[in-house]
Formats: sequence, C-alpha cells, structure tokens
Amino acid sequence: MNTREMQDEIIRLKQENDVCILAHAYTSHDVWEVADYVGDSFGLSQQAAKASNKTIIMCGVRFMAETVKILSPDKKVLLAAPEAGCPMADQIDADWLRQLKEENPGYTAVCYINTTSELKTECDVCVTSSSAPDIIKKLDSDKILFVPDCNLGGWIQKQVPEKDFKMIKGGCPTHLRARKADVEKAKAAHPDALLLVHPECLAEVTDMSDYAGSTTGIMNYAKNSDAKEFIIGTENSIVQHLQFACPDKKFYPLSKDLVCHNMKLTTLGDVLNCVKGEAGEEIHLSEDVMAGAKRCIDEMIRLGE
Ligand code: 13P
Ligand code: SF4
Repeated sequence: MNTREMQDEIIRLKQENDVCILAHAYTSHDVWEVADYVGDSFGLSQQAAKASNKTIIMCGVRFMAETVKILSPDKKVLLAAPEAGCPMADQIDADWLRQLKEENPGYTAVCYINTTSELKTECDVCVTSSSAPDIIKKLDSDKILFVPDCNLGGWIQKQVPEKDFKMIKGGCPTHLRARKADVEKAKAAHPDALLLVHPECLAEVTDMSDYAGSTTGIMNYAKNSDAKEFIIGTENSIVQHLQFACPDKKFYPLSKDLVCHNMKLTTLGDVLNCVKGEAGEEIHLSEDVMAGAKRCIDEMIRLGE
C-alpha cells in the first residue's frame, strides 16, 4: 500500500466505524490529511467536548488522549501511539504539587494542560498557551502558583504584571533547544523575515520575536500577515504545514533541532491499525481522577470562552 492508498483506507474505515480522528499540529502531514480536526491543545480539547462519534483516536501525546477521555467519558478514546508521552508532563507529580501548595498558602494552583490527569486533580484550573493570559487575568486571585513550564509562565507574567507568580523550573525539552544564537543566525540569513515563536521557548528567544503564541496562533499569524517570509520558532512540522498552506510565502525553521520525537511517534500505519481496531491503547482513568481533572479542565473551557 502506498501513502495515498493507506489514507483512502483510513478515511473509508473511519466513516464505516463512526470514528473521529483528532491530530495535534505537531504530527506529520500524512496524518494531518486523514484527521477530522487538527489544532493546538486548546482547540483539541474543545473538539473533544463536541465530537459525536462513538470512537475518538488521538494522534498526539498521552495527556491529550486523557483530556479527550475526561471530556468525553462515554466514548472509546484511543491513543494511536501508546508510547507517545510528553516529557514535560512528567516533570511534576501530585505529591510535589501538594507540597508546593502547603508552602505557598493563598496561591491559586494553575497548571499547563501538558500535565498528567492526576496532577490536574490538585489544580484549580489548567491553561493552554493560547488561553493562559486571558484565563489568568480572569481569576479572582492575584497570587498564582504556575507549573511546570517556567518559560511559558514567564511569558504569561509579562502580560499579567499585576499578579504575583511562583513557578518551578520545568520546560519543554524541544523548545528549550532554541537559543538567542539561533535567532541571530536565522535573522542574519533572512533579514526580511518575521520571527514567530512558541512561548515554551526561552525568554532570550521570545523577547526577540515579532509574535509569540500557540501553534494555531503562529499559523494564523503567518496566514493572515502581509509579510512574505517567516522564521518559525516551534516544532518543525509547523514549518512544513505552513509551506503547504501558503505556497506564495517562505518559511524557515529557527533551528532544525526543534523536533518533538514524541509527536513523531504516530505513523500513518498506527492510524490505519487503530481504525481497524487492531492497535492503539484505550484510555481508562479512575473515577476519582476523571472527576478531579474534569473540574480543572472544565474551568479552563469556561474561562477560555
Ligand atoms: P499548543 O498546541 O497549545 O501550542 O502547545 C504546544 C505543545 O507543545 C503541545 O505539546
Ligand atoms: Fe511535550 Fe514539548 Fe513535545 Fe509538546 S513539544 S509534547 S511540550 S515535549
């Protein structure tokens, strides 16, 4: 079977078996082409809450599939590549957060969506990169305990300077690879290009950008801009997706090292085997975790709309 034949078979089977395929924007383009919805973490959670199909296949990483299950508890939710996790999500566990809350009384616990469901049971609300500044502005509390990504946290803090932030030193190993020296090199090579970056990057990178925002934010900015050239400071799939979407514009990776190995674990073969019912891991969470994490995710959706 070639790529096209596999894609046709996936599309036929997903209709026959009432399956919805959700894909994060960092997955590869052949997977995008068979998905019903592609987007950033916030968009995926909104779609998960709306989907009416019997089965949902998540092409992305584990916390995303868990979020889908929590928002659609009666559906069968499959993680297409069971080994795909987010290393940042494992940087803090519920015990450590309980300890931080004890050490910082009066602080509202806010976590990035890139965390385990168990961790979310200890948080007041979770946020995504696209929703974080708005949600944190709306919180009654002006004392925020933000975990785990201190780079995203620092970027939010600059937009909400009136609030006091406590953070830990977590971060995304993929985005941390981008450095100021990469920005200087890319700008020297492409002096007319705008620099669009993800706020998971270090402050030394976001401070030099023309725009910082979520995956979808970066894509929308590039599509709607009158500029013709862009340096993209996020996972390198976005460079390729944008080049397909805007053939009259030019896109350059900030660094060729910005590849998330976990997001690349989902292959078209995994998706095909999943729609056939022969692969993928069905997500099961305990009732306590489902209820605790749902409260945290529902609060994000409520405040984010
Ligand atoms: P967004 O999709 O919300 O931009 O997050 C990026 C990311 O690193 C997902 O794991
Ligand atoms: Fe996790 Fe970073 Fe990969 Fe996103 S890009 S899944 S935050 S390691």
